[in-house]
Amino acid sequence: MAERFIKSNKIRIGDISISYHTKKAKTESTKTIIFLHGFPFNKNMWREQLENLADDVEGIALDIRGHGNSTSGHGFFSIDVFAKDLRVFMEKLEIEQAVLCGISMGGYIALRAYQIFPDKISGLILADTHSKADSNAAKQKRFDSIQAVLNHGRRPFAIGFVENIFASQSIEERPEAVELIKSSIRRNSVNTICATLLGMASRTDTTDVLPTVAVPTLLIRGTADKITALQDMVDMHHALPSASFIELENCGHLPNLENPEHFNKLINDFVARI
Ligand code: MLT
Repeated sequence: MAERFIKSNKIRIGDISISYHTKKAKTESTKTIIFLHGFPFNKNMWREQLENLADDVEGIALDIRGHGNSTSGHGFFSIDVFAKDLRVFMEKLEIEQAVLCGISMGGYIALRAYQIFPDKISGLILADTHSKADSNAAKQKRFDSIQAVLNHGRRPFAIGFVENIFASQSIEERPEAVELIKSSIRRNSVNTICATLLGMASRTDTTDVLPTVAVPTLLIRGTADKITALQDMVDMHHALPSASFIELENCGHLPNLENPEHFNKLINDFVARI
């Protein structure tokens, strides 16, 4: 079973401890791919990807500050802080270069990381994400969500979130994915959920970096994604010098869980070409 090659570890970086899964490569010459989860999930959303990586690829899926089993540290979350955590994490693990695969919030982090330390990034896979900052309306929605979580707790938030996040076909056919996401949301503390909502509301627009991206880039979106608008990804595609954009049918916001077979083939073919 491929599963046994996945190990869980913890590493201290600055004021936090980062929890991560690794799937070691079986060969000597290796490439590294780092998976960045969305909000408010954790590293377990990438298990199927880790399990199906090619033998010459080392895969790492980490819990972003405050999420899953990583600690929160100072508690002042921002996409900028998450990207800087990633840089220190890569330095500590002596990873010279990696492909970053980020979904949604993970994509915001990957793009900010490319702005700060492009030389450590050998490729970008950006799924159901975009480069724009929140509009005023989007910020207000996050502030309303914070109030709702503070007043009513995580459970109703998780239920509403899940209904929005998956394609209806996935809700019927992928109950294990739906359960994984529900339980991931509930495992994060109220503080983490609220601090991350504020962190996303305060993120900077990374559109300026797109024309400078000099590494292979793959954009993926579920055609039934109700959270990341198609136009935002089309705009990002046009601004990138050379990127492929693939849409996955019958998938919502989390195509890696909704159609892992197709998603895995896309990322494996992409990494093989790097
Ligand atoms: C995510 O999945 O990470 C979130 O939907 C991102 C966001 O709310 O902007």
